[in-house]
Amino acid sequence: MTVIISPSILSCDFANFEASLRQIATADMAHVDVMDNHFVPNLTFGLPVVRRLQQVTPVPLDVHLMIDDPARWAPAYAEAGCYSVTFHVESALDLGQVIDTACVLRSFGARAGIALKPGTPADPYLANLPEFDQILVMTVEPGFGGQSFMADMMPKVRQVADAVAASRRDIHVQVDGGITRETIVTAASSGANCFVAGSAVYGAPGGQDPAAAIAGLRAAVAG
Ligand code: DX5
Ligand code: ZN
Repeated sequence: MTVIISPSILSCDFANFEASLRQIATADMAHVDVMDNHFVPNLTFGLPVVRRLQQVTPVPLDVHLMIDDPARWAPAYAEAGCYSVTFHVESALDLGQVIDTACVLRSFGARAGIALKPGTPADPYLANLPEFDQILVMTVEPGFGGQSFMADMMPKVRQVADAVAASRRDIHVQVDGGITRETIVTAASSGANCFVAGSAVYGAPGGQDPAAAIAGLRAAVAG
């Protein structure tokens, strides 16, 4: 299994994005949480900021859109050069629009990801797996960092991981929310290979620096 660590800059110093990205240069991607205060009750930043991050980041950007109307807004993030663009299926009109939006993201060269809130079943999307490059199973309710890992999402992670394995496609099985050196082991043993961690990287216990926190997460799932 190839382990992918994607630290979330939601927990970094918002006055110093460039320096914060440099601190996670040993990660595989940088997770960028875009929130619009409609789809989730929190507001972060949008396209102009992400475009600028794209110019200075040492690692590919893994954008997580927690916004309404992804068909309208998501393609611009792919066009801006973001490596991976993930939107929530709950914010799309229907399955057809989810698939169409993923197709547009790919046409701009991005990996197309879909995210599932804790209450959203995976089944309709697993039946259309080849349309996607990343399935994000949320392990908290989206909106805020620092929440507790929902271990009861593990059957859904396993279901997605089994479908991905059967497809033999290069699809990331991503988990986001409450990932620590302990919970990453649980998620990995349920089949996840791509791990988002915000507070565990930028606010690690004992003031550990982000690079050490990333190494700790990798070590926890090595071998
Ligand atoms: C929450 C975001 C997460 C958040 C995770 O809605 O999608 O990416 O940054 O933060 P932690 O790792 O602190 O749970
Ligand atoms: Zn996220």
